[in-house]
Amino acid sequence: MERFDAIVIGAGAAGMFCAAQAGQAGLRVLLLDNGKKPGRKILMSGGGRCNFTNLYVEPAAYLSQNPHFCKSALARYTQWDFIDLVGKYGIAWHEKTLGQLFCDDSAEQIVDMLVAECEKGKVTLRLRSEVLSVARDDDGYTLQLNGETVAAKKLVVASGGLSMPGLGASPFGYKLAEQFGLKVLPTRAGLVPFTLHKPLLEQFQVLSGVSVPSVITAEDGTVFKENLLFTHRGLSGPAVLQISSYWQAGEFVTINLLPECDPDTLLNEQRQAHPNQSLKNTLAMHLPKRLVECLQQLGQIPDVTLKQLNSREQETLIDTLTNWRVQPNGTEGYRTAEVTLGGVDTNELSSRTMEARKVPGLYFIGEVMDVTGWLGGYNFQWAWASAWACAQAL
Ligand code: FDA
Repeated sequence: MERFDAIVIGAGAAGMFCAAQAGQAGLRVLLLDNGKKPGRKILMSGGGRCNFTNLYVEPAAYLSQNPHFCKSALARYTQWDFIDLVGKYGIAWHEKTLGQLFCDDSAEQIVDMLVAECEKGKVTLRLRSEVLSVARDDDGYTLQLNGETVAAKKLVVASGGLSMPGLGASPFGYKLAEQFGLKVLPTRAGLVPFTLHKPLLEQFQVLSGVSVPSVITAEDGTVFKENLLFTHRGLSGPAVLQISSYWQAGEFVTINLLPECDPDTLLNEQRQAHPNQSLKNTLAMHLPKRLVECLQQLGQIPDVTLKQLNSREQETLIDTLTNWRVQPNGTEGYRTAEVTLGGVDTNELSSRTMEARKVPGLYFIGEVMDVTGWLGGYNFQWAWASAWACAQAL
């Protein structure tokens, strides 16, 4: 039986980074993954360019039953630390929007960098490794893999959440937590498109592909100002992905499709200047033409000129465009979700080391625990920060 100082389960963002740091600190580390290559989600991320962190990382951008938990790790390993590392590898990057940093070339550069960091730490990487069972005794942890048995004093679980089962996602980490008596909070898909009920979907399916700036508000008052995208299944785009993490089944979201202007002032001014201009053409200067045409066909935009639009119609129209209440049918689920909300209860873990309070030597890092970031590089920053905190304690 091969013995290591630490075994890390999951060669994703958190697992690779933690293994590399621990290896470089002199530990003998084994990194296991069930896939045939490491960092599969990183490769898929950010449209192939990996949105690896965000300039504006702050604890308020994370959802967790304990909102204070993420503070210590995020403060100890910051976005600037990761930007430094990326710089050392000569990886060129750019800010796309809202502080989101992407590789200029390819997400592969981030995976290559993490592999190089692991090699620097002499980490043993074993791919296509299924963990069949985990047992604990006074010497630490013994893992039965497909074909061999390995052991270590410390065990780090970095097996991620349930999103994108096609990329190796599994409930392994939750089951292991439960095996050792740790509480796991209910999970659900986050950063995920909404599906619509059939009648609404039939009305808006023609708009598939149309993107529009919006302000979207959840019932708990959370607000995001980003683009909304109509799809053939429902609604997506960054605004919807963000709000989906704050949405519970059965709730409504409220959408303002004209966030950049005051529609009342706009219509009054345009009426003064161009009384014979059609309402449709006026609105098409501020909204996608296809959206205006669709809303007109649905009877929500009257087929009139500006001077014919009476004040009651104007009020109703403005309400339709700025206060559109939608009750999603559901979400597209884990199949397309970027993250999993919920997971290993952070109250079971030390926020300084990520170690389970009642199970010495057992650590959870990254997405497997109940810390979920916004869209925009926040989730990778949590992976790096939690992994770093853990590695210091191994
Ligand atoms: P991660 O899921 O990365 O890694 C877990 C690893 O464990 C996987 O390799 C898996 O195969 C392995 N594993 C699971 N069960 C196992 C078992 N039983 N035995 C062995 N191995 C096992 N975030 C962000 O900040 N910026 C972005 O641009 C994106 N983009 C993005 C796109 C897409 C399509 C998705 C699905 C997600 C994103 N994300 C993102 C989210 C981000 O990818 C995610 O939060 C991190 O990858 C989480 O890192 P972890 O290391 O915790 O899990």
